[in-house]
Amino acid sequence: MKLKRISKYTIVAIFFFAALFVLESCSSKNASAAKPGAVLWGENCIRCHNAPSPAAFSDEQWETITLHMRVRASLTANETEKVVEFLKMAN
Ligand code: HEC
Repeated sequence: MKLKRISKYTIVAIFFFAALFVLESCSSKNASAAKPGAVLWGENCIRCHNAPSPAAFSDEQWETITLHMRVRASLTANETEKVVEFLKMAN
């Protein structure tokens, strides 16, 4: 009887830590909101082609390009803004 009770608590504890782990991984996903534009550019814009050099296009061209590539890379508005800011600053 006692052994059964202990294993019940063990199962509860395992679920508790599993839930903690899931919550923790969710919160680290949100951390991408805190990433600077250069990091977002490096992580996302190389997935399909070589990361284009910021110097390759003008500010106006980058604004149009990122409107298209934002959809492809599924970036949020905030992330896109930061990538554009970085590209304009570095060209
Ligand atoms: C899901 C795939 C994908 C991702 C992610 C992606 N691109 Fe692209 N990109 C493409 C494809 C496909 C083309 C060529 C066709 C087109 O222009 O639509 C392209 C073309 C381009 C071009 C034009 C190249 C040229 O010489 O004309 C630029 C510049 C560019 N991407 C920049 C970016 C930037 C900046 C990012 C990150 C925000 C990005 N891409 C993310 C798929 C992607």
